[in-house]
Amino acid sequence: MQPDPLSSESALLQIVGASVNYNKVSAVRNLNMKIPHGGIVTIIGANGAGKTTTLRAISGLSKLSGGEIRFDGGRIDNLNPEQVVARGIAHVPEGRRVFPDMTVEENLRTGAFLRRDQEAIESDLSAVFGRFPRLEERRSQLAKTMSGGEQQMLAIGRALMAKPRLLLLDEPSMGLAPVIVEEMGRIVVEISREGVPVVLVEQNAELALGLADYAYVLETGNLVLEGPAKELHENDHVRRAYLGL
Ligand SMILES: Nc1ncnc2c1ncn2[C@@H]1O[C@H](COP(=O)(O)OP(=O)(O)OP(=O)(O)O)[C@@H](O)[C@H]1O
Ligand SMILES: [Mg+2]
Repeated sequence: MQPDPLSSESALLQIVGASVNYNKVSAVRNLNMKIPHGGIVTIIGANGAGKTTTLRAISGLSKLSGGEIRFDGGRIDNLNPEQVVARGIAHVPEGRRVFPDMTVEENLRTGAFLRRDQEAIESDLSAVFGRFPRLEERRSQLAKTMSGGEQQMLAIGRALMAKPRLLLLDEPSMGLAPVIVEEMGRIVVEISREGVPVVLVEQNAELALGLADYAYVLETGNLVLEGPAKELHENDHVRRAYLGL
């Protein structure tokens, strides 16, 4: 029998009964999620559903008020963000925060700040430039002068420079023109196929369900649905509430 890719033993990341409060106001409650060793898992939901909070909890940016998060067998919910990065989790936050007054290349190098393998860093930099030729053309340009789409590519490229074992992407399509969104989607699929599992947070459910293998639906802090992305795409509630059908 094939191992169940989502069974607890084989999950890369597991969120168990996790809750996050902000000043006593509950943002997410009793979340249970499993992220397998490969592919794309998406978390969809409306504004304020708790998508960003979930990624922040994984990254150690928001503390749990209950439950736990395990990565590769060990607990990470008690770690600080730098320790989480060191474990191999890279987070591209909402609003693509690049360092505006640094060049493209300097931004990319900051992604490798915890690494000491200088030669591998250089070859990963070349690989990022190979994946994003626009970044190579603009390697000396200040990040703040890049277009929105270019800054999103830069933010993803910087995360890849950490050589992550899991990539968290918060709304990469936000504010981008349709053709750039499409390119972004291709890149996300490519990254996962090359062996880096991706957690993709999106308000654009059509895009997310088209790219992902598995999906979770969050509504006002509660997980209300989960399943293979193709199945959720056909789900009546998802179609009405998220796909406008
Ligand atoms: N720093 C904070 N302080 C207080 N409340 C917060 C904070 N960040 C988020 N919240 C609240 O937590 C809830 C979940 O917010 P979150 O940002 O996780 O939603 P989201 O699903 O990412 O929404 P969006 O699609 O708009 O980005 C919201 O009610 C929000 O107001
Ligand atoms: Mg958000």
